[in-house]
Amino acid sequence: MLSLTIPRAALRSATAPRQFAAAATSVRYSSTKSLAEAVGEIVPAKREQLARIKSQYAEAPLGQSNVGHLIGGMRGLKCMLWEGSVLDAESGITFHGKSIPQCQKELPTAKDIGRPGDEMLPESMLWLLLTGKVPTAEEAKGLSQDLMSRAKLPSFVEKVIDTFPKSLHPMTQFSAAVSTLNHDSKFAAAYNAGVKKTEFWQPTLEDTLDLIARLPAIAARIYFNVFGKGDGKQHVDPSMDFAENFSHMLGYGDKEGLTDYLRLYLSVHGDHEGGNVSAHTCHLVGSALSDPYLAYAASLNGLAGPLHGLANQEVLNWILEVQREVGDSPTDQQVTDALWATLKSGRVVPGYGHAVLRQPDPRFTALYGYCDKRAELQSSPTVKLVQRISQLAPPVLKEHGKTKNPFPNVDAASGAPLYTYGLDEFKFYTVLFGVSRAFGALPQLVFDRILGLPIERPKSLSMDALEQLVKK
Ligand SMILES: CC(C)(COP(=O)(O)OP(=O)(O)OC[C@H]1O[C@@H](n2cnc3c(N)ncnc32)[C@H](O)[C@@H]1OP(=O)(O)O)[C@@H](O)C(=O)NCCC(=O)NCCS
Repeated sequence: MLSLTIPRAALRSATAPRQFAAAATSVRYSSTKSLAEAVGEIVPAKREQLARIKSQYAEAPLGQSNVGHLIGGMRGLKCMLWEGSVLDAESGITFHGKSIPQCQKELPTAKDIGRPGDEMLPESMLWLLLTGKVPTAEEAKGLSQDLMSRAKLPSFVEKVIDTFPKSLHPMTQFSAAVSTLNHDSKFAAAYNAGVKKTEFWQPTLEDTLDLIARLPAIAARIYFNVFGKGDGKQHVDPSMDFAENFSHMLGYGDKEGLTDYLRLYLSVHGDHEGGNVSAHTCHLVGSALSDPYLAYAASLNGLAGPLHGLANQEVLNWILEVQREVGDSPTDQQVTDALWATLKSGRVVPGYGHAVLRQPDPRFTALYGYCDKRAELQSSPTVKLVQRISQLAPPVLKEHGKTKNPFPNVDAASGAPLYTYGLDEFKFYTVLFGVSRAFGALPQLVFDRILGLPIERPKSLSMDALEQLVKK
């Protein structure tokens, strides 16, 4: 393989652009279509659509940007292309037009590919996000097997992970390990070999699949090193699906309820349009043509912030704090008092509010629905408290009057089932989110390369320059 140190210019001048032979490396099963073929089919239409938009509407206004956008975190500013999903403030997320309940109905489940479990497969979601189409059960199974065939970690990455001190936060370990995988980046090698820009998407897809496939092993190795759970070897069974293997690697293979929950969890946490910190970071870093490993490692660092992915760790900490205070059978008044105590101490209520949503998060509703289906979760005092708070917090937050959205977001519900099943190391929760976010952020990198999107370069201004501009 070509190394990153080969100068692109030298290769360019010496050789004609090479075709990237993605088809040679992707796995095919019986007569089913591979994901690379399915993505290849949509490439011409996507490019035509972009060309049409460019030629007909390049000057069409999308609303005005104002000083409020500049100093307010660019809320609501329409300035990014994101193919996989669109977030509506009222109805929540849709993936290529499909809501979470529709996905739960239409996407192939574990049972559909012959595995125990009723939930949609994250593999099915990945196929939908990359192609805009619902895969057949055979296609979902083929993708699952393809991912499992890529799941083994290079031994040097295992060694790197093993050198981290236990006290290093699992998210820091996670992003560092993902960065090192760029040693084997097919995109970086193809770029250095002078592959044509129109073909960049193929090695980007290859890296995407390699990276997603390896995330469970990285996560499980960190889990073993820090918390001593799992077999420490990250064994992959090719007959099992993605979440099932992951669950086994973590040491919960005997808990079908947790494995099925992981399928749902990974499916609904993947994509949440482009403006959130982790998704936007991946897109931004990738716009410099950094390879998918480098782009996704940066994304993970954003996910590790407490206002973003780390909130799921904070929620569980806070729920248990409330539980200690009010006991297992609290009155409504006790829970309400605990909510006010949090707010009066100047803290936010973790798991509530959202930068875009103005209704309960459909991802929360889906995870909450899972708890309703499982007897072992229904009887958990922690799950019960989460459910109780989801009813009592909105009126308190409304009365408090600050947050624009008093309803629960995905993090309000995601941790309690994990905790109930025995996965009670909160510091690890954002790592699970990080395994999932790759299912949304990396497909967009593939679209970025299909469409040949340019490097991002918004305009910034100093406050002096801003004042001069607006006073004119
Ligand atoms: C998600 C979040 C970061 C969105 O931030 P945002 O877009 O700035 O939210 P808002 O515009 O509604 O914030 C307005 C005010 O309400 C406050 N607020 C928002 N959510 C709040 C909450 N859950 N509890 C208490 N106050 C809250 C904000 O801190 C802000 O206060 P300030 O004016 O003193 O700075 C915010 O709601 C939050 O911190 N939630 C808790 C953490 C969390 O659950 N994060 C996961 C998100 S998926």
